[in-house]
Amino acid sequence: MDHFAYRGEQLFAEDVAVADIAAQYQTPLYVYSRATLERHWHAFNDALGNHPHLICYAVKANSNIGVLNVLARLGSGFDIVSAGELARVIEAGGDPGKVVFSGVGKKADEIRYALEQGILCFNVESEPELHRINEVAGQMGKIAPISLRINPDVDAKTHPYISTGLKANKFGIPRERAIETYRLAHELPNLKVTGMDCHIGSQLTDIGPFVDALERLLGLVDELAELGIELSHLDVGGGLGVTYNQESPPHPREYAAAIAQKMAGRENLKLIMEPGRAIAANAGILVTEVEFVKEGEEKHFAIVDAAMNDLLRPSLYAAWQAIIPVDRSTTSQTRIYDVVGPVCETGDFLGKDRELSVSPGDLLVVRSAGAYGFTMASNYNSRCRPAEVMVDGDNVHLVRAREIQKDLWKGEHKLP
Ligand code: LLP
Repeated sequence: MDHFAYRGEQLFAEDVAVADIAAQYQTPLYVYSRATLERHWHAFNDALGNHPHLICYAVKANSNIGVLNVLARLGSGFDIVSAGELARVIEAGGDPGKVVFSGVGKKADEIRYALEQGILCFNVESEPELHRINEVAGQMGKIAPISLRINPDVDAKTHPYISTGLKANKFGIPRERAIETYRLAHELPNLKVTGMDCHIGSQLTDIGPFVDALERLLGLVDELAELGIELSHLDVGGGLGVTYNQESPPHPREYAAAIAQKMAGRENLKLIMEPGRAIAANAGILVTEVEFVKEGEEKHFAIVDAAMNDLLRPSLYAAWQAIIPVDRSTTSQTRIYDVVGPVCETGDFLGKDRELSVSPGDLLVVRSAGAYGFTMASNYNSRCRPAEVMVDGDNVHLVRAREIQKDLWKGEHKLP
């Protein structure tokens, strides 16, 4: 459940009319709801009950400082994939001691920075990475806490671009190599083996693959214990899907409870989760204004002021996100529209074949845009990225100013 709903004919974000927010901050505009973010975070956190646990929100989903700050205030941990994301967490008031660092290509200077900040754990994806972390930690006279990301080889049955737990993916250490890689990690002098992690994919709508992966991991945890390698945490990654259209993914509460149940009797094994989308997606919308209505030979086009550079998911994954009017009392004729942006690409669309009644000047909203929306935005076509605001009850806070044209060539130079 989220806090974007109609009151009468007008769409509200919590207690503020979206039309009023757009009038003040212009469009295209990302609008986030604090209450929704908090609700989703608590759904995970509360469902894990008394089992020792830490929710490490996946920063890549939405890394706005305001968003991170809301979660940091709840005591959230964070899953990061770069030094930049760690810097954001710290700037937002997050605790580096609750940060796990994922990703296949960590650079030496990123490892150094993370060690300086005292992160909770490196989620290691390969042997060469183990050696690199060992070397950097040695130079600093530190011991690096590490977890190995195990590829459990389960089919997450999601879009191939966001499926990560299969043998054919670049991620993690194959199950068959796990024991010898743990042995190596255990022997390297500047590493402390503390955990095991996995992440099998994103936008999963079924609990089955999560539970399969967890069972495989728990088997491995027990095997390692017999060899004298005791782990103190298990990180099941992120990946729980959300409802964009007709999907009916399990509720975070249901998902977390299923995982916690498998962990019963293992209270010495702290449970870590890395949800991104399930916390942020439906806590955000993208507001856009209709510029023109164009009658093509075969199609009607609603040309809006947001484009693929602002929200890439429809173009990149053919992802479907709901598009709804801000004011549903409009009397324009209802037609089937392709909702497209001004970018010079045929692939620049926010939605296809949508039944809408729109006129130029009307405001539309792309729903479920709080995750992988702004974070994947670019300046393609030299378009300034949108502003971002956070609604909190009846207050609206600007959490990122709209870019201005000078920002577009920051750091660029003419020839002497
Ligand atoms: N942990 C790791 C190691 C990850 O790679 C990811 C996402 C997450 C956690 C968070 O997954 P979530 O709970 O958000 O599903 N841009 C794509 C999604 C890419 C996800 C990449 N990894 C999209 O817009 O659908």
